[in-house]
Amino acid sequence: MTEPIAAPEFDESRLSLRESCGSSEPNDSNDAPLVEADDVSVQFAGQSILKEVTLRIPRGQTLAIIGESGCGKTVLMKTLIGLVKPTSGRVLFDGNDLSSLNYAALTETRRRLGFVFQNAALFDSMTIFQNVAFPLRQHEQLSPEEIEAEVMQRLAEVGLPDEVARKRPAELSGGMRKRVGLARALILKPELVLYDEPTTGLDPIMSDVINELILSTRRKYPVTSVIVTHDMRTARKVADRVLMLFPRTRLRSDQSQILFDGPPSQLEHAEDRRVRQFVRGEAGERLMELRASQNE
Ligand SMILES: Nc1ncnc2c1ncn2[C@@H]1O[C@H](COP(=O)(O)OP(=O)(O)O)[C@@H](O)[C@H]1O
Ligand SMILES: [Mg+2]
Repeated sequence: MTEPIAAPEFDESRLSLRESCGSSEPNDSNDAPLVEADDVSVQFAGQSILKEVTLRIPRGQTLAIIGESGCGKTVLMKTLIGLVKPTSGRVLFDGNDLSSLNYAALTETRRRLGFVFQNAALFDSMTIFQNVAFPLRQHEQLSPEEIEAEVMQRLAEVGLPDEVARKRPAELSGGMRKRVGLARALILKPELVLYDEPTTGLDPIMSDVINELILSTRRKYPVTSVIVTHDMRTARKVADRVLMLFPRTRLRSDQSQILFDGPPSQLEHAEDRRVRQFVRGEAGERLMELRASQNE
């Protein structure tokens, strides 16, 4: 059974968002990409994980990074915001080389980023309220009433009832924890939001709740998003660009690690067979490789 490709109403909402941003915010006429990775390589203990990856993410774009487990998606995403330092190459955020920023500038830059970690990464000893309020208390001077209003509104937006605020992360289901992570990442209205496997481990309905949250965030304000996922439904529904990454270890040194870079509608027609197989969930030649390695 094939999944429906992104419904046309999403495209319309994106168009109207772009138009309204362009007319109301003179800064949005800034054509420079928000994030720029130039020839970025990352090695761990001498093993090449990313090799000479070049990527520009325009403002307002929703980019999905897909690819099999272990191919370097999370490493790439962390590199884009300076959590992993490239072995060579450079990353610019809004034109600034992350590695050259001093502490104050780095703190200010971090405020402009929201990161939704794969395991939600909530503070276990804090209540849900304290978790979501944390970035506000760190970065804003607000009264307790203002914090409360803001936090409760965010929890409502991600579909969590008021009583959840008093609970601790251990008392919530995985899907609820993910939504708390989302509320916390979005509370400062970051310019760039990074989601690491936001729907992994969730049932299809809860996954779609998360997809809708990603879409509605974008309708509310001109956010740029990077979503690491192997959920093709998420990639098709929310992304306007998909990048498929391939494990460095299974490529020749002259081959690009980016197998596909284009709109989700083109995935099925990708030239590279490995892309078509991945999006259809077919083992293809990977199965032969695995069988061959078992027989070795
Ligand atoms: N901090 C680290 N130290 C050493 N190896 C790492 C580190 N982070 C990731 N790796 C390795 O890099 C590869 C890519 O990891 P990752 O980006 O997490 O993959 P995925 O595409 O599943 O997100 C894996 O082989 C992983 O073991
Ligand atoms: Mg990962």
